[in-house]
Amino acid sequence: MKKRTIFNFLAVSFLLLSSCAKNSKQVAMFIYAKDDTFIMSLSNHLNNIFKDNDITALKYYAERSQSLQNEQITNEIEQNQTDLLIINSVDRLADSAIIEKAKRYNKPIIFYNREPLDRDLPLKGNYYYVGSDFKTEALIQANLVEELFENPNSLNTLYDKNKDGKIQFVMLKGEQGHQDTENRSKYSVEALKDKGYSLDFLTSAYCNWKRDLAKETFASIYKDFGDEIELIIANNDDMALGAIDYLLENKIFSTDVSDVSKQPIQIVGVDATDVAKEAIRNHLMYGTAKNDFKKQADVIFELSSKILNKEEISDSIFSKNHKIYVAGKAISIKNLDD
Ligand code: GAL
Ligand code: CA
Repeated sequence: MKKRTIFNFLAVSFLLLSSCAKNSKQVAMFIYAKDDTFIMSLSNHLNNIFKDNDITALKYYAERSQSLQNEQITNEIEQNQTDLLIINSVDRLADSAIIEKAKRYNKPIIFYNREPLDRDLPLKGNYYYVGSDFKTEALIQANLVEELFENPNSLNTLYDKNKDGKIQFVMLKGEQGHQDTENRSKYSVEALKDKGYSLDFLTSAYCNWKRDLAKETFASIYKDFGDEIELIIANNDDMALGAIDYLLENKIFSTDVSDVSKQPIQIVGVDATDVAKEAIRNHLMYGTAKNDFKKQADVIFELSSKILNKEEISDSIFSKNHKIYVAGKAISIKNLDD
């Protein structure tokens, strides 16, 4: 009798469990590259939020190949295993074809981090974008530079090394055509000019967000400009860290200083990754604009739940046209825990 009760209990539990499994939702995440520090923090965090909420997330990595990603997305749509696609596109210009395909199968999409063009994102149906607020990030970078160089009409001579009243700077750019590359580069310079700084733009180079490529590229920039360089504005932290790798390896930077002002070049980045915070703590870079992956993941999750539960999504949540830009904040040695 006892045995039987236990058996019944087990059988009922099994039935309950399997019916839960059946009802639980599935989403598919498509990630442009596995070796991108910021993207992996964001995507892993999002995956954990889904897990905590009993949503299964299938993950596909595209190794920076749009044709591989197209194949992954097409298979997923045609097999119809998932209720929602969450896409970090390799090439944002491919989004319009992806949306066309998804529409035919009635699949909702949330794009993240790599922004579809406005004209490609339909305002009818469940097609959205969540990313960082590049304008604010650029302004934050300009504010960090201002903290160092101070009065534009009489620059702090600790940093205006040649005392010419201008900031000699180098821009390390992300991927060509990426919205964060183009906008962070443009608006940081614009914000500095608006503050009244005279800028002397030495050079810029695309380093595809990568630390090793930035190290290699900065080596040749340093050979051209050397000690003339007063400031590096990097579109992300990994590239700032690449320049720092070169500067340390060649003993231009020292690990043995008590303040960042003792380094001969000042550096600002974007993201506030853990490695970058460590570099700030060690007086190797001045500061960074936080690219808030936790907030972005929360926003993606909230949108996902609304889509999965077929709830109405109010236009008031968008920064513009089905797009949400999440703002970050300035991080320097004063607030590394923020
Ligand atoms: C940016 C981020 C970079 C890189 C890129 C990938 O927002 O700052 O570090 O992750 O996205 O698309
Ligand atoms: Ca100068």
